[in-house]
Amino acid sequence: MCRRFDSVPGHHLKKFKRRSIQVNNLTRHLRLSKINPSDYALLDASRILQEKPTSIMGKLFSPFRLRDLTFRNRIFVSPMCQYSSQDGFATDWHLVHLGSRAVGGAALVMVEATAVSPEGRISPGDLGIWSDDHVTKLSQIAQFIKDQGAAPGIQLAHAGRKGSTAAPWEKQDFLSRSEGGWETFAPSSIAFDKKYAAPTEMTLTQIAKVEDDFQKAIQRSLAAGFQVIELHMAHGYLLNEFLSPVTNRRTDQFGGDFSGRTRLPLKIARSARDLWPQELPVFLRISATDWVERGWDLPQSIEFSKELKKIGIDLVDCSSGGIIPNAKIPMGPGFQVPFADTIRRESEIATGAVGDITEPQQAEEILRRDQADAVFIGREFLRNPYWPIQAAQELNFNLNWPKQYERAKPQT
Ligand SMILES: Cc1cc2nc3c(=O)[nH]c(=O)nc-3n(C[C@H](O)[C@H](O)[C@H](O)COP(=O)(O)O)c2cc1C
Repeated sequence: MCRRFDSVPGHHLKKFKRRSIQVNNLTRHLRLSKINPSDYALLDASRILQEKPTSIMGKLFSPFRLRDLTFRNRIFVSPMCQYSSQDGFATDWHLVHLGSRAVGGAALVMVEATAVSPEGRISPGDLGIWSDDHVTKLSQIAQFIKDQGAAPGIQLAHAGRKGSTAAPWEKQDFLSRSEGGWETFAPSSIAFDKKYAAPTEMTLTQIAKVEDDFQKAIQRSLAAGFQVIELHMAHGYLLNEFLSPVTNRRTDQFGGDFSGRTRLPLKIARSARDLWPQELPVFLRISATDWVERGWDLPQSIEFSKELKKIGIDLVDCSSGGIIPNAKIPMGPGFQVPFADTIRRESEIATGAVGDITEPQQAEEILRRDQADAVFIGREFLRNPYWPIQAAQELNFNLNWPKQYERAKPQT
């Protein structure tokens, strides 16, 4: 598992876990049946699921409209770095990888964290959008996704102090300059851990450059034909580093209290909303909590999301963690859903739930309970690009298959 995404559980899903996911999502059934939770492993969850009336199904495949964009369902591909670029350029790998998920029925295919500047990359293999030359291949990808009936989205990112690292399948983490790495920047000069170099504390000029880099990246994303942009403010990367008191020890206007720490992220959110067409949505991914005492937490995320709502940000994608290497994160099926749920209610903004959402029933339940407006699926999409097609079968929803594949569709 990618060691940089601290919010990503490092264990593999086993058959037993799949069952217990389903069981966890059926607490109502369990309560009614007076089943002791310690007996979960003994339960045949699929039998219970089959007893569920089909009339409550269908939220997962209901269309979802934000501004003038209608998503065909509520299944979104979570952004996932592929570490497969050179000098930031997208390749045929990205076309096939992202294109397959659009063919597979996702409503939104979000391109991985795409660096707004070379020093904003996590690794030398990151995708980038810091030059007009990057637009050509990205346009082909966006067009292909659109042609399949999905919306193409792109996550715009700056890695901050977590940049200059090797791809996860390489042996080491941090890359020194002699190994092809680069100087990293952050709100304060505090290293991520002892394997990383201390970043350079950003000057006001460097902060202004980051704003400018994001603005140009937003304009290029539009030129490439994307319909959604997502600003990456999660997982301990640069804009998360400005938000969190753990990483932001500045004493100027960009640090200190809540309003200082949120100043740069809000400025960038405002310029995104100004530059992106009024008829298209802007998303923003946050780490709803740092999972560390005196860090960024849910109450701050709620206040921040209220500000985002005022600016016109359309959806908050609620992840967590990543600011420090060894936070204790209580991972498990849907473990971040309560963040999407609480922020949705308290900040009155649309949210996306993400994290260990693997089962169609589980996704359906999250949406049916109004805990989120959409689900972002990550690793399950790496296991199965056709997850939505399979989910529709499981939920008895008659999904239109790509016409090229129709002859394989089971007849009901
Ligand atoms: C290979 C890989 C790459 C990832 N890259 C990104 C990324 O570019 N941006 C991001 O916000 N999250 C990234 N993540 C986190 C996922 O988007 C998602 O939030 C996380 O995997 C939890 O969802 P899941 O349990 O459905 O996989 C990545 C995760 C994986 C496994």
